[in-house]
Amino acid sequence: HPSSSPPHPTGHCPMSGFMTAPNGCPVSPEAADFDPFESAYQLDPPEALRWSRDQEPVFYSPKLGYWVVSRYADVKEIFRDNQVFSPAIALEKITPVSQEAQDTLKRYNYAMNRTLVNEDEPAHMERRRALMESFTLDELKHHEPMLQSLTQEYLDRIIDKGEADLVDEMLWEIPLTVALHFLGIPEEDMDTLREYSIAHTVNTWGRPSKEEQVAVAEAVGKFWQYAGKVLEKMRQDPSGHGWMKYAIRMQKELPDIVTDSYLHSMMMAGIVAAHETTAHASANMFRLLLENREVWDDICGNPALIPNAVEECLRYSGSVAAWRRIATADTRIGDTEIPKGSKLLIISASANHDDRHFENPDDLDIYRDNTTDHLTFGYGAHQCMGKNLARMEMRIFLEAFTRRLPQLELVPDQTFTFVPNTSFRGPEHLWVRWDQRQNPERRDPDILNRVHTFTIGAPTPNDAARPVRVADVVVEAEGVIRLVLEDPRGRMLPRWSPGAHIDVVVGDFARKYSLCGDPEDPYRLQVSVLKEAAGRGGSAFIHETVKAGSLIKIRGLKNHFRLDETADSYLLIAGGIGITPIIAMADRLKHLGKDYTIHYCGRARETMAFLSRLERDHGDRLHLYPANENRRLTLSSVVRKGNAAQIYACGPERLLDALEDVTSDHPETLHIEHFTATGAVLDPTREIGFDVVLTDSELTVHVAPDQTVLQALRAVGADIPSDCEEGLCGTCEVAVVAGDIDHRDKVLTASERAQNRRMMTCCSRANEGKIFLAI
Ligand code: HEM
Repeated sequence: HPSSSPPHPTGHCPMSGFMTAPNGCPVSPEAADFDPFESAYQLDPPEALRWSRDQEPVFYSPKLGYWVVSRYADVKEIFRDNQVFSPAIALEKITPVSQEAQDTLKRYNYAMNRTLVNEDEPAHMERRRALMESFTLDELKHHEPMLQSLTQEYLDRIIDKGEADLVDEMLWEIPLTVALHFLGIPEEDMDTLREYSIAHTVNTWGRPSKEEQVAVAEAVGKFWQYAGKVLEKMRQDPSGHGWMKYAIRMQKELPDIVTDSYLHSMMMAGIVAAHETTAHASANMFRLLLENREVWDDICGNPALIPNAVEECLRYSGSVAAWRRIATADTRIGDTEIPKGSKLLIISASANHDDRHFENPDDLDIYRDNTTDHLTFGYGAHQCMGKNLARMEMRIFLEAFTRRLPQLELVPDQTFTFVPNTSFRGPEHLWVRWDQRQNPERRDPDILNRVHTFTIGAPTPNDAARPVRVADVVVEAEGVIRLVLEDPRGRMLPRWSPGAHIDVVVGDFARKYSLCGDPEDPYRLQVSVLKEAAGRGGSAFIHETVKAGSLIKIRGLKNHFRLDETADSYLLIAGGIGITPIIAMADRLKHLGKDYTIHYCGRARETMAFLSRLERDHGDRLHLYPANENRRLTLSSVVRKGNAAQIYACGPERLLDALEDVTSDHPETLHIEHFTATGAVLDPTREIGFDVVLTDSELTVHVAPDQTVLQALRAVGADIPSDCEEGLCGTCEVAVVAGDIDHRDKVLTASERAQNRRMMTCCSRANEGKIFLAI
């Protein structure tokens, strides 16, 4: 269907007998059945959308009248492009309102206008910039002591009870109080506000019955009036901390940007934005962690894990499951034509469980190192401004409970209920119990003082280091050992696929090692380590100090060297220790019955790891090139032009450079993995400063000569994960919109560099002029 065709109403497709979507395509039976107000979606949104992620990532839901989007890349792209996918409907009532309810709202002069979250450009960004100040890390620090003492106070109230509904007795009220503090509102009428804000959720995202609609409208109307009164009170003296007070002061400077109607709407929307989101997220977090006892115990034993654990809970079971956008032009998402005017429900909860982005997404893994990529806070120009306040609250709650009530457990067999709605998700009640006689502070009152604090902002990679025990050290060849790693408590380790790597943490830095061994073995990970004479001494340190039984830490895992299993034939090329990922690929291809050959070069047979295993398992596919036997690999003859084979290679730089040369007219067939970085060291005397324009956030950031792009982006609050910070691992990759990039990493191939679509922010820079990044 051409994209210029006008939207069709839903109807029946005469050809197929199916119902048709507004783009004229048939609606599948699964799409026709989809109902986000039913319990399957309420209980487990990612599971309810699994079929869609796998079969139909963009579908039209006739019951909802929305297009539903479920995959990570699509959801992120829609968040990113807030021009084509306008947020104007983000707070629109998802269920049309009855006349009676409308009349009720009118009686209260309800006039909720656009706030920030549903405002279009350029007005949105002008306001966002004008009101950003209260969210800076320094400003947020002011709220920390209040939050600590509130948490302690609420916990004191229940600590000796032995049983509590965490939502009713704590998790609802503290975020509400914090929200009020943050906005600068007096702490009164809390119970009324509680009723109001539930009504607001049902009003916006729920499906109330006709009778409920009127009751909801009453509460919403009162909420609106209350917000107006408080605003008037604040106007009399807008001095001091608080976002609303700051906004009132800004109104004097920028009256056209911070308007009256905006202030009133923001007052109401601000309470909801800051309160319910965080209350639900905290309840989801406690439920999830207590359902995964081992994870809870890990955190009790090591509070340093808390920042990453909070992030993983936001990914796994966030409080905002879906968000809305409207298409302002005919467009397409993936292969699906989307007519102008289409409404979209983008399911971030499903995106967060997309295995195209997250390894083993259905495992709760607090050691996951790309968990901050989750979309629970949205993404781009509208990304949640309060994310660091929410993180701070959740961290403080979790820290207090794991310190003071490590024996906490869920009351068994409780049924969780949710306020039915598409977007805000959290249990209405969460019953927990504990044996109060076991409270650690009864034995050791000093526990109350041993508060662990955290740096405000996104977690760092070190927050996610995973302890492992070295089960065995096997000499594989001269200078090469293979480490067999297992969980110290005998638990399963993350599953991996060929090409994946982990980082072994050695002292202050981490070294990247590809995995080999049996991917089907859930209890062991294996890496092989070559003792390198040059370098920072990481490999020598491992050779000299790591023994069977040693406890070490790893980070990851990640796969930037993923095997495309759909090709017909493969050429696997390894130099030296580069055999590690290659042998894992060979094992997999053999298992799949694919056509492959292995070309393996090394100095001498004694130095070449895995020889006997390769000969045993892949003998008929194996070509060996020990240099001391005068056997040389001639790449041009192995890589025949026009041969469709996919080439996977790992080894020394000169081998990979030569391969890039011989494949220069078909670069898309080459996939390589580097070991060493050459361009990652920053010499400020030789660098230039330059500007980076963040097109999604509409900010310009200056990168000084002594700064990396990554450092400059983090300084303005962008959550860019990073890892090796040497241009090797690919973690800090961002999308490039335009600009002359000086690529210094070892992740991108020549053809990827030429496409100019991605860059690694830890080391790559601008050659000259501005560069434009999609952040
Ligand atoms: C926007 C989620 C906590 C203030 C958003 C958006 C989401 C979200 C999904 C829309 C993002 C987009 O369109 O890309 C959450 C979650 C929270 C949370 C899951 C808790 C876990 C907070 C807190 C505050 C806050 C505590 C305030 C103190 C805002 C504001 C916006 C926003 C002002 C509008 C930003 C804009 O449109 O420019 N949030 N939020 N949020 N959030 Fe949050």
